Amino acid sequence: MTFDLSKIVRPKIFNLEPYRCARDDFTEGILLDANENPHGPVVEDSDKEFVLNRYPDPHQLEFKTKMSDLRNSQSLFKDQKLAPLSADNLCLGVGSDESIDALIRACCVPGKDKIMIVTPTYGMYSICANINDVEITEVPLIVEDNSFQMNTDKVLETLQGDSTIKIIFITSPGNPTGALIDIASIEKILSQWQSGIVAVDEAYVDFCSTGGSAAPLANKYPNLAVLQTLSKSFGLAGVRLGVTFTSKELSRVLNAMKAPYNISSMASNLAVKALSPESVQTMKKNVQDILEERKRVLKALTSMDNVQDTQVGGLDANFIMVRITDGGKGNNELAKTLYYKLATESGVVVRFRGTEYGCTGCLRITVGTHDENTKLIKEFESKLKELTA
Ligand SMILES: Cc1ncc(COP(=O)(O)O)c(C=O)c1O
Repeated sequence: MTFDLSKIVRPKIFNLEPYRCARDDFTEGILLDANENPHGPVVEDSDKEFVLNRYPDPHQLEFKTKMSDLRNSQSLFKDQKLAPLSADNLCLGVGSDESIDALIRACCVPGKDKIMIVTPTYGMYSICANINDVEITEVPLIVEDNSFQMNTDKVLETLQGDSTIKIIFITSPGNPTGALIDIASIEKILSQWQSGIVAVDEAYVDFCSTGGSAAPLANKYPNLAVLQTLSKSFGLAGVRLGVTFTSKELSRVLNAMKAPYNISSMASNLAVKALSPESVQTMKKNVQDILEERKRVLKALTSMDNVQDTQVGGLDANFIMVRITDGGKGNNELAKTLYYKLATESGVVVRFRGTEYGCTGCLRITVGTHDENTKLIKEFESKLKELTA
């Protein structure tokens, strides 16, 4: 069976002609075409840097080209001589959260189709599926050996046995697992499952020491969509900018479907600046700092009593997971109480993840600045001692 996008995307969406907005035709002159306000905005940004009374650019070609160039330059697949990523391979969203929702809306008929998730995973896939009245099939990750890798054969068997599954979401590096998913497993699914989209969510990919992005494969596998975001390594969570890398064919559909002006002038302006050579250098430097601190926090926490002496999952993201134990076993009550005391008495907020599959007793801890981490370590030890005295 060969891949046919027209059989996966809902027919009305596949055939959508994108809304032609005023700014598509002319961007200069006396602009009386978009019912904007000629007197200017009632409030300005402090530097008056943005033209706020005009609708923003609907296409963001400069950002898309720079982002493609960045990922091409880091490609792990250079020896395969793939067609390089270009602006036509990209669609932008208001954070990856919008990109996730867009994929589900594009492919899944409400009340009929399904998505697959490999658990434990990021919660928004299920939320978006529920909002869209789309069922969810779960195949757990392998947790017994602490690898949190995909059970690839089981995933494939389930995908191939259910023609209503239209998207599989694979988080790599995983959240809350922190584990990069083996690219060979992802390629196996891409090549052996042709009746849906393999969405690889790479929100944390820049923190992975081996650099593991699947994005350059978008011109090799027509069923691949890779989601990235400026919220993590670039430190721009407040800007809300997510990027989908996919085939030009699916990208055309996603771009036709999105609201014409979904990315604000401020977001696109900052996003372009984030990709200047200096900003990319800063991003890399900050990532390096976080990786160093990650080691220190992990070592300190896992050497405490009542904490499992290894982290849970992988070390490929800007957070770690540790398991709070009692009598050698993960203990949710202790973990939850510790989490609560840390937040309310120490002012240090981490995330309780103990109810996720394979994560009993686990807290997920984002790596902060050096001083924040020092405080975390001190308070963690003192509160845990109080609780177990
Ligand atoms: C795996 C994963 N994907 C997507 C997101 C959302 O990213 P954004 O801020 O771009 O919406 C998060 C945020 O925590 C995440 O962990």
